[in-house]
Amino acid sequence: MKTLLLIGIGAGDPEHLTVQAINALNRASVFFVLDKGQTTDDLVRLRLEICERYIREPGYRVVQVSDPQRDSTTLSYIQGVEDWHEQRADLFTRLIEHEMADGECAAFLLWGEPGLYDSTLRILERVRANGCSPFDYEVIPGISSVQALAARHRVPLNGIGQPIRITTGRRLVADDLDNVVVMLDAHCAFQAFVQENLDIYWGAYIGTADELLIAGKLEDVCEQIKQVREAARQRKGWIMDTYLLRRREEKSH
Ligand SMILES: C[S@@+](CC[C@H](N)C(=O)[O-])C[C@H]1O[C@@H](n2cnc3c(N)ncnc32)[C@H](O)[C@@H]1O
Repeated sequence: MKTLLLIGIGAGDPEHLTVQAINALNRASVFFVLDKGQTTDDLVRLRLEICERYIREPGYRVVQVSDPQRDSTTLSYIQGVEDWHEQRADLFTRLIEHEMADGECAAFLLWGEPGLYDSTLRILERVRANGCSPFDYEVIPGISSVQALAARHRVPLNGIGQPIRITTGRRLVADDLDNVVVMLDAHCAFQAFVQENLDIYWGAYIGTADELLIAGKLEDVCEQIKQVREAARQRKGWIMDTYLLRRREEKSH
């Protein structure tokens, strides 16, 4: 039986790796690295650095392949994601069928936590359903950018006894702004809510040498975040940012 390890590698700091992740790295003999194109070379480099740093025995193989890109021009978002998952499923099937021997263990190094806004688990289910030869897989949890954000700002994610919501920029709505973490936001969705009496804890490239952190009343720091974000995106060619919005408690006098 072939075995795939889906290893959460944390949000950018090689020291985010857990002991369990390091042990898993040392079980694999082949690593599948998906390359999303030149702009995100840094993300590939970090994965290779992690291998060099934590794998004790040399001789492992790295198979670097270009990751199909989602077609954002498709009219329906769901259809765009569906097509993209199918292309990725074909790619994963080829990797499993042609780049692994029977009994071999291979790993995907997944950003942050494999269970949070990551399609790999869904795609592996699709690969199985499409009739790929049998394989087993394990998930090794990682430090997500959400945890890294909270730690770097030294804030708890939830208010006392309160729930916490994690959503995307496109799903951020006015009636649920109490404790909300926003990911995958290319358009600064927070700017629509400057009148709402919110605090924001924002971070980009968290855990890396380029880390940026800004916190404060949303109405005070909104423009600053937009400017810093855009300058960084232009400088590096890509950006990953996450933020927590929390309704400000009015002090009673
Ligand atoms: C496809 S999701 C992957 C999330 C990942 N599985 C996790 O647990 O953090 C990518 C989004 O995660 C967030 N993200 C990932 N790494 C980040 C980092 N180092 N700093 C800030 N945000 C990050 C951003 O919102 C980005 O758009």
